[in-house]
Amino acid sequence: MKKIYTVAIIGTGARGADTYGKLLAKLPEKFKIVALCDLQQARLNRWSETFGVDKQNCFLDENEFFKTKRADLLVIGTQDKDHFGHAMKAFETGYDILLEKPITDRREECLALLEAQKKYNCKALVCHVLRYAPAYCKAAEIIDSGEIGKLVSIQAYEQVGYWHQAHSYVRGNWRNAEQSTPMILAKCCHDLDYLQFFAKSKCVNVSSIGDLTHFKASNAPEGSAKRCVDCKYVDTCPYSAKRIYIDRWKELSKCPTDGWPYSVIATPPLTEEKLYEAIQNGPYGRCVYHCDNTAVDHQMTNMLFENGVTASLFMTGFNALGGRRITFCGTHGELIYDGRSETLNLWKFGEQQPNVINASELSKDASGYGHGGGDFVLINTLYDMLEGQANSATSLEASIESHLMGIAAEESRKANGKLVSVH
Ligand SMILES: NC(=O)c1ccc[n+]([C@@H]2O[C@H](COP(=O)([O-])OP(=O)(O)OC[C@H]3O[C@@H](n4cnc5c(N)ncnc54)[C@H](O)[C@@H]3O)[C@@H](O)[C@H]2O)c1
Repeated sequence: MKKIYTVAIIGTGARGADTYGKLLAKLPEKFKIVALCDLQQARLNRWSETFGVDKQNCFLDENEFFKTKRADLLVIGTQDKDHFGHAMKAFETGYDILLEKPITDRREECLALLEAQKKYNCKALVCHVLRYAPAYCKAAEIIDSGEIGKLVSIQAYEQVGYWHQAHSYVRGNWRNAEQSTPMILAKCCHDLDYLQFFAKSKCVNVSSIGDLTHFKASNAPEGSAKRCVDCKYVDTCPYSAKRIYIDRWKELSKCPTDGWPYSVIATPPLTEEKLYEAIQNGPYGRCVYHCDNTAVDHQMTNMLFENGVTASLFMTGFNALGGRRITFCGTHGELIYDGRSETLNLWKFGEQQPNVINASELSKDASGYGHGGGDFVLINTLYDMLEGQANSATSLEASIESHLMGIAAEESRKANGKLVSVH
């Protein structure tokens, strides 16, 4: 009989419950969700019902929750600033953990966590889900095969869609770098993680420039109001909460969805009335030029790796659509990943046409899941990783490397692009 791992989730939000919880619940022969902890009663109610968790195993208070070990595995889906504390408590309580990124924005906390993991001998997997996405795995396979020769340089473009920028980094949870984590970790720790993975080397130094240029009071249109619903630009401003959360919800979601980002602003099942109430009174209805945001809206980071590979990462929040684009430059060819079309273009020098690989056809099962299927593959290989039968590509140790890069990049950005050593 194969072991069924019991699972507890702390932070039953978009990631902890709506993504990982749902995926885990689809594998009843491997996982059973038995305990939940969240500050919000509504979320505990929703997910205890969905996952069949006993009410007495649902906790509003983390101190009560951590009094004893309640499962084999703890999914940590709380917000950025809580990850370190919750991971520490989890290790001390004896849990193996699935830990949302970013781990922390402090170097000393990275090292302390690694120490604690060794001390308590627990397994820890960080949710750098892109590493598991079929397109990224295929890119790694192509680079390893030598088809583009020797990898020399990587150019990564993190295109944050304009409304996603407004939702998460101006009005939402990651708007304030001090209360959350800086953009280079909150959004771009995935990019730094795959860059050092593809470079196959440790990063030596980084330099970074970037700023919050647009989303501030000095750029507010003349006569604009503090709330979109009261504003004369409500139907013309691209960042209007009404256009993003109501018009878009009605137009883009053929049948109105209960999913992200709408589920962040109101509790499903969603209705137009609930969404309107949320933008009328809640944080997501604030004018983007009058929020308490500090997160940058554009940032460029250059990196040098020990083996001589160079990389640059270009992030902006001014894009019609989201999606990453990565160009791998090798001595004998070029490989381009385009996250919008989900294609890989392999151009070997001397050939007239690229070989185009449709990434969504690489894994039918993973297709349609978040992060190019990475969410699905992560959870579907989690069991083998816990059993020690699969490689933990995103172990705590491996993941800390990219966090040290991000911490150094932010230090550089604050020092106007000064070159900063990573180690
Ligand atoms: N891996 C990825 O690609 C990816 C994508 C998006 C977000 N994230 C990360 O996932 C994490 C969660 O993001 P989200 O969008 O699910 O946020 P969320 O706000 O939807 O969920 C967080 C939940 O944690 C709960 N919570 C907060 N403090 C708590 C505490 N002390 N004890 C118990 N519960 C507590 C909140 O009530 C909320 O329900 C963030 O750190 C975010 O950066 C990762």
